[in-house]
Amino acid sequence: MQLHLSSWPEIDGYLKKSKAILLPIGSTEQHGPNGLLGTDALCPEIIARRAGDEAGFLVGPTFNVGQAQHHMAFAGTITLRPSTMIAAMCDWAASLARHGFTRLYWLNGHGGNINTINAAFSEIYHGITFAEPGSNLPPLRCQLRNWWELPGVMDICKQLFPVGEGSHATPSEVSVTYFGYPEAIKHVEMTPKIAPLGPIFDAEDYRRRFPDGRIGSDPSQASAAAGETIVKAAVKAVIAEFERFAQS
Ligand code: NI
Repeated sequence: MQLHLSSWPEIDGYLKKSKAILLPIGSTEQHGPNGLLGTDALCPEIIARRAGDEAGFLVGPTFNVGQAQHHMAFAGTITLRPSTMIAAMCDWAASLARHGFTRLYWLNGHGGNINTINAAFSEIYHGITFAEPGSNLPPLRCQLRNWWELPGVMDICKQLFPVGEGSHATPSEVSVTYFGYPEAIKHVEMTPKIAPLGPIFDAEDYRRRFPDGRIGSDPSQASAAAGETIVKAAVKAVIAEFERFAQS
């Protein structure tokens, strides 16, 4: 069940049985020569929508632009300042809380978002505490889960891609998007086959160190079939975790 494909009476009805919603959150940033700019938003979205349909829980719109400053030397990348992202997440949370949601499960697709998401959670909790002393309203709780850290998922990625998984524009994440959007598959020769590893500083330095955008990876190994295997495992894991959180 997706929020933006539902009517308000349907959401009203959902709230009578559950106060929990899953929000995919990611980034719009370069993902190497054959990866989609939307990869980090699409991966949690693809997993979340299938999980929500299978288990009957609500999936919100994808928060699809995040912390991508270090990718800004590549065309198409869009980034938010941390303060903007925190403010927007607070407003999303306040809107959902206003309707009665008390459990917000954020399924994240971008490592660079983690610090800012946790800062946003702190800002959200401050807002609640400062708003109404002694309130006996049910407390709003947020949970962050990075999709690649869902139980069992990392092991499957390692089995599928024992060499050249790397840390950015990985064959695993590219495979997930190829499974979701087979019409967007791109065949590109990688030179070198496996990209260099190294630290991340600012945007210009990133492009000097990693000229085609990849870090340590060979995403030419990506396939829709591998993506299907990863998504199946992630859907199963996220359903179990979301349901525990919803009842907590
Ligand atoms: Ni990514």
